[in-house]
Amino acid sequence: MSSADESGQQAFKRTLVTAALPYANGDIHLGHLAGAYLPADLYVRYLRLRGEEVLFICGSDEYGVPITLTAEKLGISPQELVDRNYESIRKSFADFGMSFDNYSQTSREIHTETSQAFFTDLHTQGLFKQKTTDQFYSVSQNRFLADRYIEGTCPKCGSEDARGDQCEKCGTTLDPTELINPRNAMDNSPLELRKTTHWFLPLGDWQEKLKAFHGRHPEWKENVLRYCNGWFADGLQDRAMTRDLSWGVPVPLPDHEGKVMFVWFDAPIGYISATREWAAENGAPETWRTWWQNPDTRLVHFIGKDNIFFHALLFPIMLMAHSENYILPDNVPANEFLNLEGQKLSTSRGFAVWLPEYLAKFPADALRYTLARNLPETRDMNFTWQGFLARNNSELGNNFGNLINRVLTFCHKYFAGVVPEWSLDAATDLDRTTLAEVEDLLQRWSEHMARFEQKAAVNVAFQAGQAGNRYFDESAPFRTRKSDLARCGQSVGVAIQIVRMLALMLAPVTPFAMTKLWGWLGMESDLWPGGWQEGTLPIPSGRILGQPEILFPRIEDQAVQIEIERLEKLLDNA
Ligand code: MF3
Ligand code: ZN
Repeated sequence: MSSADESGQQAFKRTLVTAALPYANGDIHLGHLAGAYLPADLYVRYLRLRGEEVLFICGSDEYGVPITLTAEKLGISPQELVDRNYESIRKSFADFGMSFDNYSQTSREIHTETSQAFFTDLHTQGLFKQKTTDQFYSVSQNRFLADRYIEGTCPKCGSEDARGDQCEKCGTTLDPTELINPRNAMDNSPLELRKTTHWFLPLGDWQEKLKAFHGRHPEWKENVLRYCNGWFADGLQDRAMTRDLSWGVPVPLPDHEGKVMFVWFDAPIGYISATREWAAENGAPETWRTWWQNPDTRLVHFIGKDNIFFHALLFPIMLMAHSENYILPDNVPANEFLNLEGQKLSTSRGFAVWLPEYLAKFPADALRYTLARNLPETRDMNFTWQGFLARNNSELGNNFGNLINRVLTFCHKYFAGVVPEWSLDAATDLDRTTLAEVEDLLQRWSEHMARFEQKAAVNVAFQAGQAGNRYFDESAPFRTRKSDLARCGQSVGVAIQIVRMLALMLAPVTPFAMTKLWGWLGMESDLWPGGWQEGTLPIPSGRILGQPEILFPRIEDQAVQIEIERLEKLLDNA
C-alpha cells in the first residue's frame, strides 16, 4: 500500500520532498525547525520507513539584499559569507538528524545554469513583459535600492521614518515614490529617481489555470487555500522577476550587465538545481527529469506560512509556464509560526533559540520530540523551556524510555536477554486486547503521518507508550516470575512486541534513539529504508536482544533555568 492510497488519492510511484531553502544569512532557529524542517524530515523518514522511493532536497538560498548587507557589515564578500553560513547550517542540520539526500547552494554553477536556462525558456516564449519604471537610485552607494531600504516622510501621517514599502506608524502600504524627502535608510543620503527596465511575469494571465489546479486539491491545508483565495480575490498582478543588483543570478540576456534575477525567481529553481546536482553526483545526470517531469512523481513542498505565495502561486506558475512538462506540487503543507516563551521570535534582538547552541547542550531527539508535540500545524504555537523539560522528562523519559528500559532490562535479568516463549495461542485476554490496541494505534499513526497530521500521529504514539506501561503493570511479570515462569515469559514476549511497534512510531521523531533500539531488538533490516516491513512482523521467541542503555537522559531544571534567564535578559534590555 502506498502512502498516497492511504490519503485516498492518486497512486504515485515516488515522492520528491523539498524543504524551503533557508537564507544563508544566519543560523537556523527553532522557528525554522517547527515551520518547515522537522515536518519535512518526519514525513520523509515516514515514507522511507514504509519503503517508498523518496528524494529529499534542500540547500541554502544565497542571494537577496540582506545577504549583501550582512557581508558589507562584516567586511567580507557575499560569497565568503554564504559559504561560511552554508557550512554551519549544513552541519547543524545534520546533527539535528535532517536526512536530506542533497543539501546544495544557490551560488553554485549548476544553479546559475539551471535558472538561466529556465529564464531563457520563458523569455523565448515571450512570456515576460518588459517595463521601464522610475526607481530610487543611491548616488552615494552607486546602486538602486530595494523598497525597504528607502525611508522618508509618510504622506499620510507625517511620520519621518516611514519605509519605502510601509509606514509602521500608521500602517499604510506605500510605494517609495509616495514618500516625501526619500533618503537612503543606510546612510541617510538623498536619492534620485532613475529609469530602469525590468522583466515582469504577468501572474494574472495564469490565475484561471492556477485556480483550477487548486480546485483539484481540496485536501490542501485550510490555511494555504484560504491565503491563496485571498490573492485570487484581489487578482494576481504583474511581478518583476529581475532586479538591479550585483549579487544574484545574472539575467541571461545581452546588454544587461548589473541585472540579476529576483531572488524568489531563482530560489525555488534551486530545488531543481539541487536535484540535478544529486543526479550528476550519482552518475546519472538525466535522472533529475524522473523527479520533475514524470507525472507519477509526487512533489511536496514543506514551508513556513510566510512562503505560501511563492510555493502555492508563483513557483507553480513558473512550472506551468515552462515549455517542458514539469509536474506541479501535489501538496504544500505550510505551518504557522512558533513563538518563544509567549513572545514573537526576533532574530534582530537575538530573541530566538539557535540550533547550534541548542545542540551544544542538549540532545537532538529531545528537541525533535518537543517540537513534534507542539507543531504549529493549524495555528501559532508556543515553545517554552519548562515545557521542553516536561516533555523530555515525563514523556520521553517516563513514558517511552521507562517502558523500553523496563522491558529490555527485565528480559536481560530473568531471560538472559533471549525473547522468551510467547505465542498468540497462549495469550490472555489482556495480551490479546493490548496487542490489538497497539496494532490499531500503529495503523492510525500511519494514516495520520500520510495525511500530514503529525501532531496527531505523535499523540497516538504517546498513547501506545501508555498502553505498554499499563500492560506491563497489569500483566506484572515481576510477580509471575516467581509463581508462573511461563506466564511471565509470555508477558515479556508480548511487551517486546509493543516496544517493537513503538520503535516504528517513534522512529521519525527520535531517529537517534530508535536506531539504537532497532539494533537492540535484533532487527536484520535497517530502519531506513524499509523498516516497516520487518517492524510489523512479530519478534520470535529465541531472538537474542541487545543490552539497553538510557535512551532519553533526564534534563535538569538548572540547565533550562540558564536558558530562561538568557531570554529574560534579552526582553529586559529590549
Ligand atoms: N529563503 C526563503 C526563506 O527563508 C525560502 C526560500 S524557499 C525557495 O524564507 F523555494 F524559494 F527556495
Ligand atoms: Zn504614516
